[in-house]
Amino acid sequence: MYICIEGIDGAGKSTQLDYIKEWLIESGFEAKKVHEPTDSSVGKLLRKLLKNSDANCEDMQKVFGLLFAADRLILKNELEKYEDNNEIIISDRSFYSSLAYQPHEDWICSINKYVKKPDLVILIDITPDLAIKRCLKHDTFENKFFLNDVRENYLKIASNKNFKIVDGSNGVNKVKSDIKKLIAPLLGICIDGIR
Ligand code: TYD
Repeated sequence: MYICIEGIDGAGKSTQLDYIKEWLIESGFEAKKVHEPTDSSVGKLLRKLLKNSDANCEDMQKVFGLLFAADRLILKNELEKYEDNNEIIISDRSFYSSLAYQPHEDWICSINKYVKKPDLVILIDITPDLAIKRCLKHDTFENKFFLNDVRENYLKIASNKNFKIVDGSNGVNKVKSDIKKLIAPLLGICIDGIR
């Protein structure tokens, strides 16, 4: 099973993924954590380019679309190996990040035609204001507008693709328990005495 956590920057995805991995292992499952961008050479290039001041411009966003699709294709082999070993994959981002962040939905779908799509997507939803506060970034309009667009895109995709939505403005423990409640029934795990 391939489970993905999505959300805008600062939503708390990596903290929650660490908790989920630990919980799945305690519950007797083999769990593997992955992250996009990956540690491949394409992923490393992406991290470098994401730091540039022109990262938000239209053409660079198209470059990101292509590179993220390539990075994801490189990841595919690893994901298939985990699935063959019956390991649960928990992922920080996926194809749906490209749909939310990069422009031109049809084009993103076509260049991502051969990548793996998650079986379950959990969207941790927070406002751009909270994201900016958490990331300690300057509260610039550009940042806020960009994150606002990405959040709107996520919410649109979530309703079309049946994502599960968790309110990320709650404390980490509440978010953790909300996520566990979504995953537990799929894996037959008993939480709080309920299976
Ligand atoms: P992020 O999860 O923040 O990585 P890290 O925590 O290691 O810095 O991802 C880096 C950025 O990449 C983030 O701003 C979202 C962006 N991104 C895209 O624009 N498109 C994509 O397809 C993916 C996977 C990420």
